[in-house]
Amino acid sequence: MSNPQVQAIDGPLTSTATFLILTVAPGAESTVASVLGSISGLSKNVAIRDAGAGLSVTVGIGARVWDAVTKLPRPAELHEFKELKGATHTAPSTPGDLLIHIRAERRDMVYEFERLLLDQLGAAVKVQDETTGFRYFDARDLLGFIDGTANPIGQALDASVLVAAGDDAGAGAAAVGGSYVTTQKYLHNLGAWNKLKTEDQEAAIGRTKIDNVELADQADDAQKPHKQLATIVDDQGVEHDILRDNMPFGAPGKGEYGTYFIGYSRKLWVTEEMLRRMFIGVPEGKHDRILDFSTPVTGSVFFVPSAEVLAKIGS
Ligand code: HEM
Repeated sequence: MSNPQVQAIDGPLTSTATFLILTVAPGAESTVASVLGSISGLSKNVAIRDAGAGLSVTVGIGARVWDAVTKLPRPAELHEFKELKGATHTAPSTPGDLLIHIRAERRDMVYEFERLLLDQLGAAVKVQDETTGFRYFDARDLLGFIDGTANPIGQALDASVLVAAGDDAGAGAAAVGGSYVTTQKYLHNLGAWNKLKTEDQEAAIGRTKIDNVELADQADDAQKPHKQLATIVDDQGVEHDILRDNMPFGAPGKGEYGTYFIGYSRKLWVTEEMLRRMFIGVPEGKHDRILDFSTPVTGSVFFVPSAEVLAKIGS
């Protein structure tokens, strides 16, 4: 039976999470494959120490190493993050072959799993970024707004997030039950944001700040709120959602305040279209106002195979 702590994409937001972005050293693909294939055992070793702490681990594999690490057909939409250059703001594409998303209610459990994993991977990987986030009161981001409200729930969650049989004829069973995941680490200019009046902040997000109520959409030629730009409706009128497990992170002593964006989707184009609308703008040039106060410093795309597929990697 598969281990429910592994590839638990639909797991709840926890009070802490670490996002590790790694690159694979040349020639180390088979070492990486055997460590990833045995991650279920490694997570059990830690999870048992406090079953109530909800440890879960999600592993994503990037396009550059997918073939060599998994030896499986490549999911149809998997490619490296495409840089987006708007008139005012840019979403950079940065190195990343593996994503390890570790969640738990206890910081020590997350630390312990990360320590053991990196110990096993050793020189086979290089850490490109390590960010640890925390829950900020009632799941607010550091801009002060509740983040995650419009996430799909129940049956809509699997339908939005997991690749279904028939979605990807090329990769077939290797893709089914998996998910595309996009990550971006944003740094906020909190000083400038906090100088805005609350009504202006609310207009930028598209919701009220205290009680989280949606505001009316803006007309076609106006600069639209984040919520409206991130809503994707196709030509048939069908809305496409993604699952966001964003976490705030920060170190006031260093003047660092951020949001770690992580979006899981059944179809990568949905997340890409959200990014295009935010950075290029709708109409073009009218970008997302949260970007005037939030700068992405990383950008990567991965495919998260199902737990069953992951367990067979490297065997
Ligand atoms: C909605 C914050 C980046 C996609 C929201 C909301 C907040 C928020 C406060 C409203 C409440 C909610 O429904 O969650 C942020 C911050 C970001 C960020 C602080 C980074 C600095 C992104 C990115 C994407 C995205 C990069 C997609 C690529 C969405 C979606 C919604 C949303 C899909 C829901 C829209 C709807 O109402 O249907 N975000 N977000 N966000 N955001 Fe973001």
